This record gives sequence, structure tokens and C-alpha cells, in this order.
Amino acid sequence: MKNMHSIRTDYVKGELRVQNMLVTPQEQLSLWIDNAIESSALDANAFCLSTVNADGCPKGRMVLVKEIKGEALIFYTNKGSSKAQDLKVNPRAAATFYWPELERQVCISGTVYEVSEDDNDIYFATRPRESQLGAWVSDQSQALDSRDTLNKTLKLVTDKYQGVSKIDRPPNWGGFRIEFERVEFWQGRASRLHDRVLYTKDGSGGWNKSLLQP
Ligand SMILES: Cc1cc2nc3c(=O)[nH]c(=O)nc-3n(C[C@H](O)[C@H](O)[C@H](O)COP(=O)(O)O)c2cc1C
Repeated sequence: MKNMHSIRTDYVKGELRVQNMLVTPQEQLSLWIDNAIESSALDANAFCLSTVNADGCPKGRMVLVKEIKGEALIFYTNKGSSKAQDLKVNPRAAATFYWPELERQVCISGTVYEVSEDDNDIYFATRPRESQLGAWVSDQSQALDSRDTLNKTLKLVTDKYQGVSKIDRPPNWGGFRIEFERVEFWQGRASRLHDRVLYTKDGSGGWNKSLLQP
């Protein structure tokens, strides 16, 4: 294995000033995602979703934010998946974005709620047909004996919907909303003296912004 001691990035691409940060974390996050899209970051809307299971064991995995609505971000998944099981028993989560192209990170924590059935249907209808079929095929996070099994199920589902223009949403597929409680913006700086700005609720419907040590 290569030696990792010598991997050292000096971060020089920007700086944060509290007075220049937007009023709410949702506005600031939207701006940073737009900046990441403009900088051609791969999967600019990807974040690590961390959940905790019934035994208190944490797990992180990447998912895609599909919308920022009010003071929350929304992602979609299979409701039988390991993450959805975790959220059933412990409806709190962390969302961590990282855009190396911009030397930026955002760490969000909050409470999680299910998206309404109507909104699930609206979003599902916008997905490409292959992704809609895929949602019927995968029993996400369950054991799989072979790739063959998946291919056979895909063929069955594809045949079933042959000539059918609208594919129904599987009942076990839908979205979750993470309502922001704590949102921290990080911009890498030289000498590891990074900038960190934390948004917390001010108790009267607004947000406080404060600096954190690097
Ligand atoms: C960049 C990226 C984006 C992903 N987006 C999603 C997503 O939006 N929804 C999803 O269910 N899985 C997504 N996945 C797959 C998840 O990381 C994960 O493997 C899957 O959801 C099963 O996770 P679980 O067993 O912990 O529930 C994505 C993976 C990557 C690498």
C-alpha cells in the first residue's frame, strides 16, 4: 500500500465570513450545491447519510438530495432498506456533503420525516423508466444469491410493463425529509486553519450564525 503520510492538500480556494453568509442554511446550502454543479463536480448533489440502528450502531452511505424544501432536504430510497429501518426506530440523521473541487464540506443534523404519498408519486413520475423499473426489482439491502436472480426479476418486471406507459410507484419506495437543526459550513484554508460557520435555531423562527474553531 502506498504511504499516505505525504498526502497533504493545502486548501486555498476560498474563505468564509459570517457577514457574507446567507440568512438561512437552506439558502446557503442551495448556493453551494449550485456552485458545485457549476464547477462540474461529479454527483454535486450527493451526500453521506448517517443513521443509527436499534442497537445504537451508526452507518453512513451516499444518497442524492433531490430537493431542498423549506428548512429541509429530501432524498428517496427503498422503505425496506437498512437506512429506512434505522430511521423507523431512530428518526434522526446526519447529512454530510463534500465537494473536493471547491474544498468545501457541509455537516447537517436533524430530525427525519416521511415525504407524503402524493409527493412520492410526483417525484417517482419524473424518474427515467429504467430507474422506475429498477425500483420494482430491488429489495434493497436484503441478501442476494446471485446477479442472475436480479436479471431474471428485471426481465419479469420489464415484460409486465411492456406497452404500459405509466409505471406505478412501488408502495415501499419513497422519500424522507431531514429537517435542519444544526448546519455547519466548512471551507478549507491554509495551514489547516479552516473556516467553519455554524447555523443553529434562534428560538424565534430564525437562525443564529457563529464561528467554530478549525
Ligand atoms: C453517489 C451515490 C448516490 C446514491 N444515491 C442513492 C439514493 O439517492 N438513494 C438510495 O437509496 N441509494 C443511493 N445510493 C446507494 C446507497 O449508497 C446504498 O448503497 C443503498 O441505498 C443501500 O443502503 P442501506 O443498505 O444502508 O440502506 C447511492 C450511492 C452513491 C455512491
